[in-house]
Parts: sequence; structure tokens; C-alpha cells
Amino acid sequence: MVLEGYYGASDDEQASAAIRRALDAGMNMIDTADAYGNGHNESLVGRSIAGRRQDAFVVTKFGIVFDEREMGTDLATGWGFSLKINGTSRYVRKALNASLHRLGVDVIDLWYAHYADPATPIEETVQAMAQGVRDGKVRYIGLSNVSAEQVRRAHKVHPITAVQFEYSLWRREVEVDLLPTLRELGIALVCWAPLGSGFLSGTVGSLNKDDFRHNNPRFAGENLQKNSHRFLPLLKLAEELGVTPAQLSLAWLLHQGQDIFPIPGTRRADHVLENAKAADIQLTYDLLKRINELAPPGLAEGATLV
Ligand SMILES: NC(=O)c1ccc[n+]([C@@H]2O[C@H](COP(=O)([O-])OP(=O)(O)OC[C@H]3O[C@@H](n4cnc5c(N)ncnc54)[C@H](OP(=O)(O)O)[C@@H]3O)[C@@H](O)[C@H]2O)c1
Repeated sequence: MVLEGYYGASDDEQASAAIRRALDAGMNMIDTADAYGNGHNESLVGRSIAGRRQDAFVVTKFGIVFDEREMGTDLATGWGFSLKINGTSRYVRKALNASLHRLGVDVIDLWYAHYADPATPIEETVQAMAQGVRDGKVRYIGLSNVSAEQVRRAHKVHPITAVQFEYSLWRREVEVDLLPTLRELGIALVCWAPLGSGFLSGTVGSLNKDDFRHNNPRFAGENLQKNSHRFLPLLKLAEELGVTPAQLSLAWLLHQGQDIFPIPGTRRADHVLENAKAADIQLTYDLLKRINELAPPGLAEGATLV
């Protein structure tokens, strides 16, 4: 998503270099969506993995509609605007073929419904996605930004492999309901914004005027100041441990279980390598306890987005 300029300008050449560097470093899950850059990002990913398909676990999402001629249901978000969502079986089929074409692949490794369509039973959406599996166009099915109850219903129609939801040291409510349900059902949690949309890297000062994070209440004027103050002890702990704040946040997530998969976004090949090294960090029980005390659930100020 960040390769489409949401959090600052991005250029395709640099973006492709970052993707290839990730594959070199063994970070093989490449997460995109038909919504990112309205199809542009899937094409970018397709070009970037061309010739090394076997190195990449290709993941995309569908369901957010930008085409004026296409139907959809308005879904309010915490960003202060609505998204148009379509999860009907007709649209699911159409979206799959379009994503395969843009990605230039025969099969998508993991395919998510980006949001559940409020006007379409989730059973219908998943049934249509499952047809993609039967047709050999999709390996695994996932859901994104859903409730525990929606996961249970969907999982009865076809096994759900992964659920994608925001999870990091500045947003932890999945721990209450969603994650226990996923564990009961044997479903992985893929954490979007594992760096708190960049906040937990400790490098976000003021935002450029067209930065998408202006829509995020946690980055709004006073909240950003409050959050910078509240998370300072965590950032200082990273310094004490000789790692970067981004690495500490990713390492913490990786220690929450083998079923937890953070997908940090970056436009920069050097950040890719920095983030990959988080997998080598060992956190002791005492350190995990300390991190939990420094950044307990509910510490961040500002409403959440989804
Ligand atoms: N399912 C959904 O609804 C949903 C929603 C949001 C995101 N996502 C997915 O999750 C991915 C990650 O989320 P996200 O990109 O929103 O947030 P994120 O991964 O928490 O943070 C990305 C930001 O962190 C910065 N960053 C990354 N590594 C850094 C490092 N080592 N040092 C300093 N800064 C660093 C990046 O800036 P630089 O580019 O300058 O490195 C970027 O601005 C997205 O790209 C997207 O694929 C899914």
C-alpha cells in the first residue's frame, strides 16, 4: 500500500527494488490489493516478481469498488469517509480474473475479501471465493477487517486460512476476541500496519499535507503529540537493547505466536533489510513483560480506523 504514495511519494523503480530486496531477504509474503492505486499496485507487484514467481507468496484482496458504474454498499470507516464494498458472487468472479491479469500469475496464493459487504451474506462471498480455489486460480482464502462472528460463519462455508487485521503495540484489541477465535479455528492472523502506520518506527514527525495518515485520528495534531510522549519509553527501550524501534515492534509481534504474520510496508530497500532482521531478535520473558508494561492495550490516543 505504501508503494502507492499513501504515506509519502513513491516511484515505481524504487518500489520494485524494495520488493525484490524483500524476496532476497526471504520476506516472501507480498501483500497487495486491487484497491491500492486502483489496480496499479497489482501490476507493479506483477512486474516486480516476474521471473521469480516461485520466491513470492502472492497475496491480494478485492471488494473495495472505485468504478462508478459498479454497484456496492457504503461502509463507514474511521477515516471520515465511506468505502463502497461489493461481495456479491458476480463481482467476486470478475475481481478474481482482473487481479490475476494485473498480477500476471496463474494462481493467487492467498486471496482476501478486503471488507465484508454489509449487504451480502458473508457465506455468499466466501462460496464464490471458494469457486476460485476449485478452479485452481486461488490457493488459500482469507478475510480482512472482519469480526470473530463473521469468521465463524465464513469458516463453515470454506476453510479460512488467514485473517488480516490491524495489530501492533499501538492497537491491540484483536487480543480480546478475534485472536482467540482464530486460534480456536486454526486460522493465522496477518497484522496490517505492524509499525502503527510508521508511528512505532519513531521517525514520524509532522506529516506532509497530502499524507493519508491525516485521516487517522491517532496522527491528528494533539493526539500525535500525546502518543509521541506516551510511547517514548518504548522507543527508549529499543535504544537500550541496541535495536531500532521498528525492529523491536516487529520482534514483539513475532513473539506473540507462530500464527502471527506482520506485513510491514516500506518504499525503501534499506528499511526492508532493517525490518527483516527483526526475525533474528530474541526477546526474553522479562523483556516481553517490560514491553507489555510500557505499551499496554489502550495506550494510544485516538479512535481506530476499522
Ligand atoms: N487489510 C487492510 O485493510 C490494510 C490496511 C492497511 C494496510 N494494509 C497492508 O499492511 C501493510 C502495512 O501497513 P502500513 O503500510 O499501513 O503500515 P506499517 O507497515 O505499520 O508502516 C508503514 C510505514 O512505516 C515506515 N517504515 C517501515 N519500516 C521502517 C523502518 N525500518 N524505519 C522507519 N520507518 C519505517 C514506512 O515508511 P518508508 O516507506 O519511508 O520506509 C511507512 O510509512 C500495507 O502496506 C498493506 O499492504 C492492509
